Amino acid sequence: MKASSELLEKARIYEAETGGAIGGADRPSFHLTPYTGWMNDPNGFSYYRGKYHLFYQYHPYDSHWGPMHWGHAVSKDLLTWKHLPAALAPDQPYDSAGCFSGSALTMPDGKQLLIYTGVQKETLPDGMTRDIQRQCVAVGDGMDYEKYAENPVLNENDLPQGGQPADFRDPKIFPEPDGTYSMIAVNRDKTEGGQVLRFLSSDAFHWEYAGKVIENHNRLGLMWECPDLFHLQDTDVLLISAQEMLPEGLEYHNGFGNFCILGRFDKASGKFTEETSYSLDYGIDFYAAQTVLAPDGRRIMIGWLQNWDTVLPPQIERPWFGQMSLPRELSIRDGRLIQTPIRELEKYRTGAPMERLLSLSNEETEVDGISGRHVDMELLIEPADVDQIYHKFTVRFAKNDRFYTSVSFRPRESVLRIDRKFSGSRRGIIHQRRASVRHINGKIKLRLILDLYSVEIFVNDGEQVLSAVIVTEKEAERISFFADGDVNVKVLKYALKQQ
Ligand code: FRU
Repeated sequence: MKASSELLEKARIYEAETGGAIGGADRPSFHLTPYTGWMNDPNGFSYYRGKYHLFYQYHPYDSHWGPMHWGHAVSKDLLTWKHLPAALAPDQPYDSAGCFSGSALTMPDGKQLLIYTGVQKETLPDGMTRDIQRQCVAVGDGMDYEKYAENPVLNENDLPQGGQPADFRDPKIFPEPDGTYSMIAVNRDKTEGGQVLRFLSSDAFHWEYAGKVIENHNRLGLMWECPDLFHLQDTDVLLISAQEMLPEGLEYHNGFGNFCILGRFDKASGKFTEETSYSLDYGIDFYAAQTVLAPDGRRIMIGWLQNWDTVLPPQIERPWFGQMSLPRELSIRDGRLIQTPIRELEKYRTGAPMERLLSLSNEETEVDGISGRHVDMELLIEPADVDQIYHKFTVRFAKNDRFYTSVSFRPRESVLRIDRKFSGSRRGIIHQRRASVRHINGKIKLRLILDLYSVEIFVNDGEQVLSAVIVTEKEAERISFFADGDVNVKVLKYALKQQ
């Protein structure tokens, strides 16, 4: 293992000392957390030399955002992770203000290429500073990476008219069938906000601008971030994370929101034509999602289980901050993007499943054996009497005498709500979200995955997902059920192995 600079060497020594000392019991079991310090976006999500590699935006020295490094972890099944030494440090003039988000690819010679945004501060004539963002590459062997001597490979001169050099980032690279490469990256147009630009290359080092894939015209948020593009069944899918979104009905309430655009991408013209767009996650915390194509053909997505609007100094200082979402398998059903927890999770179910039929009538009910903070639980909820649809069904979890987080469904309004107001947070941040969901006369299916400090709720076999981080102390393990009206619930609960 050879660190290519003093700054990287310093980060590697620091993380081995401090990260190694963080006990497994203090981390979630399946959700990747940083080796030590701060984590944001997933980067370079790839399958390389028999393992999944996940890099991430990383500030090892503090549990707050700072000069961005790339953290690095590997996994065989995307659920049990091994931290590797930091892959990139901001050690060059062109990335001295940070190695921002990017992606990875296997080269014909077997090496792995990382492409990322190098950020440099520039002082303007009036003494103010601004970022210059440029695209850079590094090549390595899955452990150590060497930055390309002729970085950056794309700079402000490669931008179209009106493209702002301060917002030009997050390259996602693709191998093309003819052996060439393409890349998309986001940029801010001076007046029209976010846009996705396309670049082409014959060798992944020399790039040419090839036009605008799609322009936001300030419609879905302002600046866009972290694009991804892939073909799924008969649809093309563009993932975008947007800053400063305006809510529309129950869509886009998160300020910073991650959404999908379904439509057609025409490779010849390089243009994406939108058919529909909506939120990727209707909970509180999900952003910057990136996908990988698994060797068996599955398209798997992982996101940062956090939202910039809810990032505040944590009330409990932990040596780490930030976690990834569960990896989710993507598919298209009835024209919608479906997300389901990666099937490997089922191998981590432990002990006998608990199966119960509950008849709820206006009383909060707890059930022996249904509790825990590492839980995979399916709920099939239906009215006891189809002619008398109930008003509300609620499940509370991560619960003790004082704290809980809840999910409530109101069939008469078709609204599912997540609420962590009473989770023990002392922060005045967003604690509640509502989503408009599909149900048949009050019949709805939910799958809740709890992993210590998070919950992810999959609705109707993945039609929608609501995710949130919860801060509740880990001893709060109770789960309760409540109905306003008469409800039958079939509960199937598995404990998940703690690791
Ligand atoms: C999104 C983002 C990216 C950027 C990175 C910096 O969360 O703002 O656009 O590359 O975070 O850490």
